Amino acid sequence: MDKAPDKQKYYLTTPIYYANSRPHVGSAYTTIVCDVIARYKRMCGYKVAYLTGTDEHGVNIERAAERLGISPAELVDRNQRIFIELWKLLGIQYTHFIRTTSPQHARAVQNLVRRTRRHSPDAIYKGKYEGRYCIYDNLYVSDTIEPIDCPTCGRPTELVSEENYFFQLSAYQKPLLELYAKNPQFVLPDFRFNEVKSFVESGLHDLSISRKSVRWGIPWPDDEEHVFYVWYDALTSYMSGIGFVDGEHDGPDFKFWPADIHAMGKEIIRFHAIYWPAFLMAAGMPLPKQIVAHGWLLFEQEKMSKSKGNVAYPEPIVKVLGNDALRYYLMREVVFGQDGNFSRDALLTRYNADLANGLGNLASRVLTMIQSYFDGVVPAPAQPGVVSKDLQFISGPIVSTVLQNYDAFDYSTALLEIWRFISQVDGFLVREKPWKLSEDPAQRPHLSDVLYRSAEALRIISILAHPVLPDGTQAIWKHLGQDGSITQQRIDKTHWGELKVGARVTKPGVIFPRVDHAETSERIARMEDEIRNPGTTQSAAATPSPGAPGAGGPAAAAAPAPGAKISIEDFTRVEMRVGIVKSVERIPGADKLLKVMVDIGDEVRQVLAGIAQFYTPEELVGRKVVVVVNLAPRKMRGQESNGMIVAASVGAEGRPVLATFTEDVPAGAKLK
Ligand code: MSP
Repeated sequence: MDKAPDKQKYYLTTPIYYANSRPHVGSAYTTIVCDVIARYKRMCGYKVAYLTGTDEHGVNIERAAERLGISPAELVDRNQRIFIELWKLLGIQYTHFIRTTSPQHARAVQNLVRRTRRHSPDAIYKGKYEGRYCIYDNLYVSDTIEPIDCPTCGRPTELVSEENYFFQLSAYQKPLLELYAKNPQFVLPDFRFNEVKSFVESGLHDLSISRKSVRWGIPWPDDEEHVFYVWYDALTSYMSGIGFVDGEHDGPDFKFWPADIHAMGKEIIRFHAIYWPAFLMAAGMPLPKQIVAHGWLLFEQEKMSKSKGNVAYPEPIVKVLGNDALRYYLMREVVFGQDGNFSRDALLTRYNADLANGLGNLASRVLTMIQSYFDGVVPAPAQPGVVSKDLQFISGPIVSTVLQNYDAFDYSTALLEIWRFISQVDGFLVREKPWKLSEDPAQRPHLSDVLYRSAEALRIISILAHPVLPDGTQAIWKHLGQDGSITQQRIDKTHWGELKVGARVTKPGVIFPRVDHAETSERIARMEDEIRNPGTTQSAAATPSPGAPGAGGPAAAAAPAPGAKISIEDFTRVEMRVGIVKSVERIPGADKLLKVMVDIGDEVRQVLAGIAQFYTPEELVGRKVVVVVNLAPRKMRGQESNGMIVAASVGAEGRPVLATFTEDVPAGAKLK
């Protein structure tokens, strides 16, 4: 367990997010993990600074703005608000938010170069660059004219040939290897550290850190023809965001530097574990203490990513199930460091089983019995020997295992242990049968003891689960009538026996209401579609679409403003064909969906259409419809939907009316 002297400082960061698109569940994962760490560390007595922000420069932002017909500044202003709102909705307690378009950040980036030039005069030089650059990953993928496609995302790269400023990364191979040797935990998990070490051992090339061809960036100091390479700019945000000016005239919060942890997804570890320490060494600045990489959240086994159209959004989940549900699911289901799969079905199953039936049910049983049998006043434990003390005996080892796992970022095991404790309390109640004891006045001390012990276990469970479930546990804390806020409790000093006897418990509402699986899943899916296709849910809901038309490429980088114009290229990316409906089935348990088999010329496709309340299967067979055929497939109710049937949305209720043809057209004919 961490031994934290009170008020010792702790600084952690998320990566700053590209402000070219809205966050999805995958991207929110990093921020949620960091929020769990931040809350945990605060409950261990640390004074925590937690930084997040938005990465607002670079060619992909420039181009996304161009496509929308707005300025890059407008685009990033609009998108960074979405991030701020989402973090608020998710209850993220960051302390610092940095935008890379802010003047203090620009000054910090320029000063870092000036400082580097003073400290290591050879570290930055001008040279000729020729290589391949991936605008989507903001990554130089090679220093040669090959390969044409990006090895990370598979999309075409651009050939760049220009005079740039270079960072002499090759000179830092030895210092980096020394750093790794001295800090065997510098990168977590270990297997990622090994990848980093092998990469460095195999030799480092100098790195171009300016661009001439891009306008949307921070100007190079004293050479305004160049702007900074976005990664040099972005990484510096970890310091500028807490007040770095030049290493000598910094703001008061810069005392938090160096960072205790930079957390991030696995794909950007190289920037953090290699480039960033090298930049800092060259500038003579202290280095971050640890780089922690998590895996990816997958959707149908592929990385969740807006450009692939296979994303789930956090807002609908939080609005329907509450903030704790998503946090719990992600921390419980994904083994930290490894890839994890996201599935709405699994989310709902976990919610009902672990939160509604598990913790929520236990809390309401215990609180209700204290209400009924002790007039709502926490009863006292009995004298030693009256009943078995098994909950007390197991609580100590459970507390230390949970803390060890929090310290090791192993949240799934920490939660597993907490839920093991919940089942122990359930078992204890079943064995002791307080409802029976209440019938016999002679058993009053025994009953008092049983309910004291159950409530004490509930208090400990709430403290332990608080970093992951801030809302539900705070509610339980209040119902238990305990002093202050649960956030002020020292999780690292959690001991049996501190429940305040005589405290007045309040009648619990339902803390995690049970939900109807099928109905809730559909409701969330509809809300997600509304995010993808604002204002068109009903007509597009003719088929629950897996992405906005055009998802799958750069045009999807940001939701177009209502009424914004798109180019003919954007339109041609949506492939629509005439389809003939071959057969239609209802889907058991889904009153709005039909499974439609539709002939689109060269194949018969299965498409799910949300029109069951307006069309019968018989009406549809033989009908000619318009099908969007190049949408990414999506699963609903375990069935795959492979396209979208186009419909008008009529009236206030958005009644779908299928588009069709009055003249004879063959199946497969393309719409232009
Ligand atoms: N702007 C850079 C970071 C610069 S830090 C100096 C960037 N931004 S990002 O928006 O693409 O990613 C932000 C975070 O979201 C990263 O930690 C990234 O790994 C995470 N994720 C984005 N999609 C993800 C999943 N599908 N799954 C898990 N995390 C992923 O990179």
